[in-house]
Amino acid sequence: MKRIVILISGRGSNMEAIVERCAAEAWDAQIVAVISNRPVAAGLTYAAAKGIATAVIDHKLHITREAFDAELAAAIDAYHPDLVVLAGFMRILTDPFVRRYEGRMFNIHPSLLPAFPGLHTHRRALEAGCKVAGATVHFVTPTLDFGPIVAQATVPVLPGDDEHTLSARVLAREHVMYPLAVRWFVEAKLRVDAHGLVTHLDGESQLL
Ligand code: GRF
Repeated sequence: MKRIVILISGRGSNMEAIVERCAAEAWDAQIVAVISNRPVAAGLTYAAAKGIATAVIDHKLHITREAFDAELAAAIDAYHPDLVVLAGFMRILTDPFVRRYEGRMFNIHPSLLPAFPGLHTHRRALEAGCKVAGATVHFVTPTLDFGPIVAQATVPVLPGDDEHTLSARVLAREHVMYPLAVRWFVEAKLRVDAHGLVTHLDGESQLL
Protein backbone atom coordinates (compact mmCIF):
# COMPACT_ATOMS: atom_id res chain seq x y z
CA MET A 1 0.00 0.00 0.00
CA LYS A 2 1.56 3.26 -1.18
CA ARG A 3 1.10 6.28 1.06
CA ILE A 4 0.37 9.60 -0.63
CA VAL A 5 0.47 13.10 0.87
CA ILE A 6 -1.11 15.87 -1.23
CA LEU A 7 -0.17 19.53 -0.84
CA ILE A 8 -2.66 22.21 -1.84
CA SER A 9 -3.09 25.97 -1.56
CA GLY A 10 -6.71 26.52 -2.51
CA ARG A 11 -9.50 24.94 -4.50
CA GLY A 12 -7.96 21.50 -4.63
CA SER A 13 -9.83 20.17 -7.64
CA ASN A 14 -6.84 18.09 -8.75
CA MET A 15 -6.54 16.64 -5.25
CA GLU A 16 -10.25 15.78 -5.42
CA ALA A 17 -9.77 14.03 -8.76
CA ILE A 18 -6.91 11.95 -7.33
CA VAL A 19 -8.88 11.02 -4.19
CA GLU A 20 -11.85 9.97 -6.34
CA ARG A 21 -9.88 7.87 -8.82
CA CYS A 22 -7.91 6.22 -6.01
CA ALA A 23 -11.17 5.05 -4.45
CA ALA A 24 -13.05 4.28 -7.68
CA GLU A 25 -10.20 2.25 -9.18
CA ALA A 26 -9.19 0.68 -5.84
CA TRP A 27 -5.54 1.60 -6.17
CA ASP A 28 -3.12 -0.09 -3.83
CA ALA A 29 -2.67 3.32 -2.23
CA GLN A 30 -4.06 5.63 0.38
CA ILE A 31 -4.21 9.42 0.52
CA VAL A 32 -2.89 9.70 4.06
CA ALA A 33 -2.97 13.50 4.40
CA VAL A 34 -3.84 16.73 2.65
CA ILE A 35 -1.71 19.67 3.78
CA SER A 36 -2.31 23.31 2.88
CA ASN A 37 -0.15 26.39 3.33
CA ARG A 38 -3.32 28.47 3.52
CA PRO A 39 -5.76 28.08 6.41
CA VAL A 40 -8.71 28.86 4.14
CA ALA A 41 -8.36 26.35 1.35
CA ALA A 42 -11.58 24.91 -0.01
CA GLY A 43 -9.83 21.61 -0.61
CA LEU A 44 -9.33 21.10 3.13
CA THR A 45 -13.08 20.91 3.65
CA TYR A 46 -13.43 18.29 0.94
CA ALA A 47 -10.56 16.19 2.31
CA ALA A 48 -11.84 16.34 5.88
CA ALA A 49 -15.30 15.29 4.68
CA LYS A 50 -13.67 12.25 3.07
CA GLY A 51 -12.07 11.34 6.39
CA ILE A 52 -8.58 12.25 5.24
CA ALA A 53 -6.22 13.81 7.79
CA THR A 54 -5.66 17.50 7.09
CA ALA A 55 -3.09 19.99 8.32
CA VAL A 56 -2.25 23.63 7.76
CA ILE A 57 1.30 24.91 7.75
CA ASP A 58 0.79 28.63 7.26
CA HIS A 59 3.68 30.18 5.35
CA LYS A 60 2.77 33.58 6.77
CA LEU A 61 3.73 32.42 10.24
CA HIS A 62 7.29 31.65 9.14
CA ILE A 63 9.91 34.33 8.72
CA THR A 64 12.06 32.44 6.26
CA ARG A 65 11.41 30.03 3.44
CA GLU A 66 13.77 27.60 5.15
CA ALA A 67 11.77 27.67 8.38
CA PHE A 68 8.52 27.10 6.50
CA ASP A 69 9.97 24.25 4.46
CA ALA A 70 11.41 22.61 7.57
CA GLU A 71 8.05 22.60 9.31
CA LEU A 72 6.30 21.45 6.16
CA ALA A 73 8.78 18.57 5.79
CA ALA A 74 8.20 17.56 9.40
CA ALA A 75 4.43 17.56 8.83
CA ILE A 76 4.80 15.50 5.66
CA ASP A 77 7.26 13.03 7.14
CA ALA A 78 4.90 12.31 10.04
CA TYR A 79 2.79 10.48 7.43
CA HIS A 80 5.72 8.51 5.93
CA PRO A 81 4.66 9.07 2.33
CA ASP A 82 5.91 7.14 -0.67
CA LEU A 83 4.78 10.00 -2.90
CA VAL A 84 4.24 13.73 -2.30
CA VAL A 85 1.81 15.31 -4.78
CA LEU A 86 1.83 19.07 -5.33
CA ALA A 87 -1.66 19.94 -6.53
CA GLY A 88 -2.04 23.67 -6.96
CA PHE A 89 0.53 24.20 -4.20
CA MET A 90 1.61 27.79 -4.76
CA ARG A 91 4.94 27.98 -2.96
CA ILE A 92 8.48 28.03 -4.27
CA LEU A 93 10.35 25.30 -2.42
CA THR A 94 13.95 25.39 -1.19
CA ASP A 95 16.54 23.06 -2.68
CA PRO A 96 16.95 20.97 0.49
CA PHE A 97 13.19 20.39 0.60
CA VAL A 98 13.09 19.32 -3.02
CA ARG A 99 16.12 17.05 -2.60
CA ARG A 100 14.48 15.38 0.39
CA TYR A 101 11.66 14.15 -1.84
CA GLU A 102 13.65 13.63 -5.02
CA GLY A 103 12.14 10.93 -7.19
CA ARG A 104 8.98 10.84 -5.11
CA MET A 105 7.39 14.25 -5.59
CA PHE A 106 5.09 15.22 -8.48
CA ASN A 107 3.83 18.60 -9.62
CA ILE A 108 1.23 19.60 -12.18
CA HIS A 109 1.77 22.75 -14.17
CA PRO A 110 -0.85 24.23 -16.53
CA SER A 111 1.35 24.56 -19.60
CA LEU A 112 3.21 22.35 -22.00
CA LEU A 113 6.59 22.55 -20.28
CA PRO A 114 9.24 23.68 -20.94
CA ALA A 115 7.04 26.47 -22.36
CA PHE A 116 5.67 28.95 -19.85
CA PRO A 117 7.02 28.00 -16.44
CA GLY A 118 5.78 30.27 -13.65
CA LEU A 119 2.51 32.17 -13.39
CA HIS A 120 -0.20 33.31 -15.86
CA THR A 121 0.47 30.46 -18.25
CA HIS A 122 -2.84 30.69 -20.11
CA ARG A 123 -2.55 34.43 -20.65
CA ARG A 124 0.99 33.99 -21.93
CA ALA A 125 -0.02 31.15 -24.26
CA LEU A 126 -2.81 33.31 -25.70
CA GLU A 127 -0.50 36.32 -26.08
CA ALA A 128 2.05 34.14 -27.87
CA GLY A 129 -0.60 33.01 -30.34
CA CYS A 130 -0.22 29.34 -29.40
CA LYS A 131 -2.58 27.02 -31.25
CA VAL A 132 -2.19 24.28 -28.69
CA ALA A 133 -2.05 24.47 -24.90
CA GLY A 134 -2.10 21.95 -22.09
CA ALA A 135 -0.66 20.78 -18.83
CA THR A 136 2.32 18.77 -17.62
CA VAL A 137 2.89 16.36 -14.74
CA HIS A 138 6.55 16.19 -13.80
CA PHE A 139 8.89 15.02 -11.08
CA VAL A 140 9.94 18.02 -9.01
CA THR A 141 13.54 19.16 -9.22
CA PRO A 142 15.05 22.34 -7.73
CA THR A 143 14.39 24.39 -10.89
CA LEU A 144 10.83 25.77 -10.82
CA ASP A 145 8.38 23.98 -13.14
CA PHE A 146 11.09 21.77 -14.52
CA GLY A 147 12.02 18.14 -14.05
CA PRO A 148 11.37 14.79 -15.72
CA ILE A 149 8.08 14.89 -17.60
CA VAL A 150 5.70 12.08 -16.65
CA ALA A 151 2.73 13.05 -18.84
CA GLN A 152 1.35 15.88 -20.92
CA ALA A 153 -2.20 16.66 -21.98
CA THR A 154 -2.98 18.93 -24.87
CA VAL A 155 -6.03 20.99 -25.83
CA PRO A 156 -6.63 23.23 -28.82
CA VAL A 157 -6.62 26.99 -28.39
CA LEU A 158 -9.88 28.08 -30.02
CA PRO A 159 -10.73 31.37 -31.68
CA GLY A 160 -12.23 33.72 -29.10
CA ASP A 161 -10.60 31.96 -26.15
CA ASP A 162 -9.76 34.01 -23.10
CA GLU A 163 -7.86 32.98 -19.98
CA HIS A 164 -11.03 31.68 -18.40
CA THR A 165 -12.18 29.43 -21.25
CA LEU A 166 -8.68 28.14 -21.94
CA SER A 167 -7.90 27.39 -18.29
CA ALA A 168 -11.22 25.54 -17.91
CA ARG A 169 -10.45 23.39 -20.96
CA VAL A 170 -6.98 22.59 -19.64
CA LEU A 171 -8.21 21.92 -16.10
CA ALA A 172 -10.65 19.29 -17.32
CA ARG A 173 -7.68 17.44 -18.87
CA GLU A 174 -5.62 17.89 -15.68
CA HIS A 175 -8.32 16.02 -13.78
CA VAL A 176 -7.84 13.02 -16.07
CA MET A 177 -4.06 13.16 -16.39
CA TYR A 178 -2.98 13.77 -12.79
CA PRO A 179 -4.77 10.75 -11.29
CA LEU A 180 -3.42 8.60 -14.12
CA ALA A 181 0.15 9.75 -13.52
CA VAL A 182 -0.18 9.11 -9.78
CA ARG A 183 -1.57 5.64 -10.50
CA TRP A 184 1.44 4.88 -12.68
CA PHE A 185 3.70 5.81 -9.77
CA VAL A 186 1.65 3.67 -7.37
CA GLU A 187 1.94 0.73 -9.75
CA ALA A 188 5.71 1.33 -10.13
CA LYS A 189 5.28 1.65 -13.89
CA LEU A 190 7.56 4.66 -14.36
CA ARG A 191 11.22 4.54 -15.25
CA VAL A 192 13.44 7.63 -15.27
CA ASP A 193 16.64 7.23 -17.26
CA ALA A 194 19.99 8.91 -16.64
CA HIS A 195 18.95 11.82 -18.89
CA GLY A 196 15.74 12.43 -16.96
CA LEU A 197 13.49 10.94 -19.60
CA VAL A 198 10.46 9.15 -18.17
CA THR A 199 8.96 6.12 -19.84
CA HIS A 200 5.99 3.94 -18.95
CA LEU A 201 7.17 0.35 -18.58
CA ASP A 202 4.16 -1.04 -20.51
CA GLY A 203 4.36 1.67 -23.13
CA GLU A 204 1.14 3.42 -22.14
CA SER A 205 0.81 6.75 -23.89
CA GLN A 206 2.15 9.59 -21.78
CA LEU A 207 0.43 12.05 -24.12
CA LEU A 208 -3.22 12.62 -23.34
C1 GRF B 1 -4.16 23.90 -11.67
O1 GRF B 1 -4.39 24.54 -12.88
C2 GRF B 1 -2.75 23.40 -11.60
O2 GRF B 1 -2.24 23.02 -12.83
C3 GRF B 1 -2.01 24.62 -11.11
O3 GRF B 1 -2.87 25.26 -10.22
C4 GRF B 1 -4.22 24.87 -10.49
C5 GRF B 1 -4.72 24.23 -9.25
O4 GRF B 1 -6.08 23.96 -9.27
N1 GRF B 1 -0.74 24.24 -10.56
P1 GRF B 1 -6.73 23.06 -8.13
O5 GRF B 1 -6.35 23.69 -6.78
O6 GRF B 1 -6.18 21.67 -8.26
O7 GRF B 1 -8.19 23.13 -8.36
